[in-house]
Parts: sequence; C-alpha cells; structure tokens
Amino acid sequence: MSTSTLNAGDVMLKLLNVESAYGPIRAIRGVSLQVRKGEISTVLGSNGAGKSTILKTISGIIDPRKGSIEFNGADITARDPAVIVQAGLSHVPEGREVFPLLSVRDNLMMGAYTRKDRDGVARDVETVFGYFPILRERATQDAGLLSGGQQQMLAISRALMAAPQLILLDEPSLGLSPKLTKEIFEIVVRINRERGTTILLVEQNANMALNASDYGYVLENGRIVMEDRCDVLREKDDIKEFYLGMKEEGVRGERRWKKKKNWR
Ligand SMILES: Nc1ncnc2c1ncn2[C@@H]1O[C@H](COP(=O)(O)OP(=O)(O)OP(=O)(O)O)[C@@H](O)[C@H]1O
Ligand SMILES: [Mg+2]
Repeated sequence: MSTSTLNAGDVMLKLLNVESAYGPIRAIRGVSLQVRKGEISTVLGSNGAGKSTILKTISGIIDPRKGSIEFNGADITARDPAVIVQAGLSHVPEGREVFPLLSVRDNLMMGAYTRKDRDGVARDVETVFGYFPILRERATQDAGLLSGGQQQMLAISRALMAAPQLILLDEPSLGLSPKLTKEIFEIVVRINRERGTTILLVEQNANMALNASDYGYVLENGRIVMEDRCDVLREKDDIKEFYLGMKEEGVRGERRWKKKKNWR
C-alpha cells in the first residue's frame, strides 16, 4: 500500500455533494469523495446503503439531481456512459452482467470495442488470461455456462480490455465463497500494483475491502459517515464492531454471504 504524501494533483476522481434518486427515493445524499491516482479506494456499506447508486452515477447510468463529478480534472457529471468509458473509466456492475450467449473471448472483445490498437488488444487478452487462466481454457465457451466466480473474473477482465485508468468495481464478493472472494481480491490488488490501474471498490465485505484498499469511506443511508486511510479505519472501534464483527467463517458472516442475492 502506498503511503506517500499526496497532493491535490493526484486526485483522479472527485465527487462533490452528489445526490441521486429513484423517483421519490433519495438513494445518496450529499456524497463527496475522492479517489487518488494509483490507489484502491473503497466505499463500505450494508444492503441498500447506496453503494451501487454511487457507481451508477459516476459511470453515467443515472444522472445526479445535485452535485458534480470530475474525472482527471474534467467535468463528467451526467455525461453519456459511452463518453465516460472512452475517457478511461470502466464499470464492473453488481451481478457481473456478462453477455451469456457470447463466448468468453467475444465478451472480452466487447470490452475493447472502442480501441483501435489491435496489437494492444491482443496483448491485453493475454494479460487477462494470465490473471485468470480458467478464462483461456473456456475462451470459446458461452459465458452463460461459467460459474458465478468465473463470470466475476470475466466481468473484471472485460473492464480491463478497455484499458481503463479507473475501474469501478461493484461488490466483487457478491455470492462467492470466502475462498473465491480472496482469490478475486488478490488479483484486483495485482491489477492495481502491476498495471497501475486506479480502483474504486464498493463492498459489504469490509474485512476484504479494508485489507485490499488504501483509503475508505463508510456509507450509511446514502451518506458518508466516516472516512480515513484503511489502516486507520481497521483500528476504529465502531468499524470493528459493526463491520468487522462478522468474521468470515463465523455464524453471522456465513449467513451474510449466503443470504446474498445472485447466489451461485
Ligand atoms: N431501480 C431502483 N428503483 C427504486 N429504488 C432503488 C432502485 N435501485 C436502488 N434503489 C434504492 O436505492 C437505495 C440504494 O440502493 P443501492 O442499490 O445503491 O444500494 P447498495 O448499497 O448497492 O445495496 P446492496 O448492497 O444491496 O447492493 C435503496 O434504498 C434501494 O432500495
Ligand atoms: Mg449494490
């Protein structure tokens, strides 16, 4: 984890007082956060806290009612999702959303559809096969035949194929066993370290997220209630109690990942 002193020039993504709603439901309110270049930042929160809404608002799937979003110094508030991808920001949505009737390789190529550098694309296919060798084995198979964990690997890989500067990662642990979750997190950290890709990760699995990330925000009922470097957050009593109290193998922890939607 990098601990260097950072200045304002290092901020890649900046949300200022963002509010998004679904009809009368105000899902996030006055959310301000920053993601520093080269770091993994995380937003922790329980079911319905507004985590996915934050990511959807950043990637242009929903337009905020208030506030602004800056990416590399440019205002991307409410821009078209395709424009935002083109600017270097890829979103791995909750529940992966791979194209089930396309092959694994074609799913990867969909991620690269805006790129003209064919050699670079071919190299990146090899890179993601290096991270997730099972995807090479299954390259010609329909993505719908992959297990949940493999689909998560494919979704992350497809995002990488756009050669993004920033990846928005929505609950990669969703519906996965603790072992598979650990494997996926290890690769996410490698992608950050080896490629220098900046990552904004939202998670209910505070334990995994705090260990993998540099900086963290805690979201409750659509509002950020706490933020700090993750090594500091891990030591805070209320974080330990409310978020880390659920041990991965413990009764509550087990129930927590089993009750999740999209269990596969
Ligand atoms: N399409 C929608 N229509 C109406 N309300 C929605 C919609 N999507 C989300 N919400 C509501 O907005 C709030 C925030 O939802 P969001 O999906 O952002 O939470 P989350 O933190 O991602 O939760 P989870 O951990 O369950 O994925 C919740 O109250 C939710 O019920
Ligand atoms: Mg969500």
